Amino acid sequence: MGDEAPKRAAGYAAAELIEDGMVVGLGTGSTVRFAMERLAEQVRAGFTCVGVPTSHQTAMRARALGIPLASLNDAPHLAMAIDGADEVDPGLRLIKGRGAAQTREKCVAAAADRLVIVIGEEKLTDRLSTLVPIEVLPFACATVMGQLALLGGSGRVREGVAKDGPVLTDNGGLVVDWSFGPIQDPAGLEEAIERIPGVVAAGLFTRFTKKTTVIVGDGAGYRVITR
Ligand code: A5P
Repeated sequence: MGDEAPKRAAGYAAAELIEDGMVVGLGTGSTVRFAMERLAEQVRAGFTCVGVPTSHQTAMRARALGIPLASLNDAPHLAMAIDGADEVDPGLRLIKGRGAAQTREKCVAAAADRLVIVIGEEKLTDRLSTLVPIEVLPFACATVMGQLALLGGSGRVREGVAKDGPVLTDNGGLVVDWSFGPIQDPAGLEEAIERIPGVVAAGLFTRFTKKTTVIVGDGAGYRVITR
């Protein structure tokens, strides 16, 4: 199996959880893409599913695949959201936002009855410790970074790769990638970051663990983790 096989296995397994008529949140990234591919097959076979995309990337992919879309304002209650993650700990707490979509992903996760996270095994960790992406109002970037420093660690504004200057999110925000090192209290840290005026959303997801299912793809297939 190629490098994408674990992502495909996890994504396809997640799509199998979607039932006819469901409104489903569609996360962002390379693993969710496989769930959308499988969902598109189901739609072609007659499913009446509607997707709520969490980014321009996902909306564009869904349109290309023929998946009907609605905005979160049109469909504020979702049966399920399917999304990727950058790290997952044993308590099913997450770090998200490598693709700068964590704000919309958090809104959609909050609106969903169930959050299905699709990952490869390398995303599992005993303790969350990778960079935490934080969406910030450009107006308040300097003051936010000063307040973040008081919480510990260090970070910087994310720069574009095929663009000069900072990455701008789909919401017009900046992304600050902050290293806190191994995080002792993810829930407390998420709350502390999101209390800072000018922070839009932190890429720490600790409030959805009860409704979270993690599907881990590997070389042999996939396995499912719930609390
Ligand atoms: C988007 O901003 C992120 O939260 C992604 O969902 C996360 O980075 C997972 O992406 P991959 O599935 O591409 O690893």
